[in-house]
Amino acid sequence: MTDPQLVLAERVQQALGTAFGQEYSGEDPLIRPSQFADYQANVALSLAKRLRRTPREVAQALVDALDTGDISVEISGPGFLNLTLGDGWIATQAARLLADERIGVPQPAPKTVVIDYSAPNAAKEMHVGHLRTTIVGDTLARTHEHLGDHVIRQNHLGDWGTPFGMLIEHLLDVGEEESLERLAAGDGNAFYQEARRKFDSDPDFEARARLRVPLLQGGDADTLRLWREFIEYTQRYFNRVYHQLGVTLTDDDIAGESMYNPMLADACDELEHSGVAVISEGALCVFPPGFTGRDDQPLPLIIRKSDGGYGYATTDLAAIRYRVRDLKADRILYVVGATQSLHFQMVFASARLAGWLTDEASAEHIQIGSVLGSDGKMFKTRSGESVKLTELLEEAVIRAEAVIADRGYDASARRSIARQVGMGAVKYADLSVSHDSEYVFDFDRMLALTGNTGPYLQYATARIRSIFRNGSVDPSTVSGPIILGEPAERALALQLLGFGAVVESVAELSEPHRLCNYLFDVAQAFTSFYENCPVLKAEDEAVRQSRLALSALTLRVLLQGLDLLGIEVPERM
Ligand code: ARG
Repeated sequence: MTDPQLVLAERVQQALGTAFGQEYSGEDPLIRPSQFADYQANVALSLAKRLRRTPREVAQALVDALDTGDISVEISGPGFLNLTLGDGWIATQAARLLADERIGVPQPAPKTVVIDYSAPNAAKEMHVGHLRTTIVGDTLARTHEHLGDHVIRQNHLGDWGTPFGMLIEHLLDVGEEESLERLAAGDGNAFYQEARRKFDSDPDFEARARLRVPLLQGGDADTLRLWREFIEYTQRYFNRVYHQLGVTLTDDDIAGESMYNPMLADACDELEHSGVAVISEGALCVFPPGFTGRDDQPLPLIIRKSDGGYGYATTDLAAIRYRVRDLKADRILYVVGATQSLHFQMVFASARLAGWLTDEASAEHIQIGSVLGSDGKMFKTRSGESVKLTELLEEAVIRAEAVIADRGYDASARRSIARQVGMGAVKYADLSVSHDSEYVFDFDRMLALTGNTGPYLQYATARIRSIFRNGSVDPSTVSGPIILGEPAERALALQLLGFGAVVESVAELSEPHRLCNYLFDVAQAFTSFYENCPVLKAEDEAVRQSRLALSALTLRVLLQGLDLLGIEVPERM
């Protein structure tokens, strides 16, 4: 264990046990960063009442019981314990981290984690909200995988439902070939809107569209063929976006709504027989406790409409059952827009009633906040259409070209650096704010080379690479010992020790922004180290080696961290 906060927590817990009895050794020692020391423990204040002593007395008892060894401790204020780690301890831990292939990232007992993310709708176009669920979900998938979990990606594509009646008729009107070409080119949104307009204004078309729905549901061969083509060509477009972004989703991860179609009747039967679902006004409903609508009436989750049709909630319930029973999920993460919060709360509550979700198999909604335009409204183009993602990503690359310095790269090198920087900027902007907050999509801000941005971190990483290039040193061959002379060296080393714990917390809490903030702090600590401590020009050979070691460790932490965020780093920038 190298994370300083965890090490200190353990020590203070030992002291709690020694001073007040073993029953106190499980207490949270409340370790926080401190202005006056490396960390402070606030537990004396929270325990004082229970122990019937003053906080300062409690703090003194803890200091007396603390195995200080390589940490120094001081009581301050009303009873804070100020904790400062010894330089020797930090240096040894940092050298150990450098020799550790996993740079401190633990491998806890593996879990099966199903991650439902991206999930665009084939009936409409992929919009910028899907971009965010895709990016956040992909980071969670990469992080769990890195921790050793068995990750099953599930792209819950919206590929089924009544709109396909209308879309198939429109496809026939436009002509099969032309329609499919347009869908593969990402024109799905306009295609959908045309169909919708016709449906609303042309009774003849509306009638045809309505007749098409039972044909699709009944498995009519010709209709199914058209539907399959429709989905396939739309998927080509989604795949292009995934490829542009460097996202790990493949066709094997597609588990769209249509996949659950054959399971819906049975899922409903099971819910009805177990008494979880009841018939109400002709519809089969679950009334999960605690959900009320107008007039405090119990709110139904409708799983089979009175006409026998199934909906979005039915599919999600069948999907939970499948994910728990067949995929053997321990944990299911739904990376989906925050606007669907009530839906998921009710679906999860119903699945718990059914015994599908338990303490051993849990589901969580990772709520994704909206992406806004500069006007503070949902992000759209000027004409009001939602933005075509391939074009948006293309624009990021073009703008990135203007940001990267001119170092005489040839055109293709320039283009490839711009692609990495452009995609890094877009992804980092999504990941660095907490996933449930809204944020404004702003190319200038996300492409800035200073501040908490993707390009800043890419630049910081490329700069460390250039130190090794200039010194003709291979960073993978550098080793300790590490000597901590300057405050900036100490601050950097201390920061690097926390990497493993941050990665673990990203997986545990599903909060990628923690990793972003951490990497930003690392890059800043490195900058101040670099400004204050000559590396290649260090006079003393041992100091030079130590500084190279700190640089190599920083490089590895940044590269590994950015890789978990799905962000590539150009060799030079
Ligand atoms: N296709 C849906 C949408 O675009 C998201 C699906 C999320 N996943 C799920 N299991 N419901 O809003």
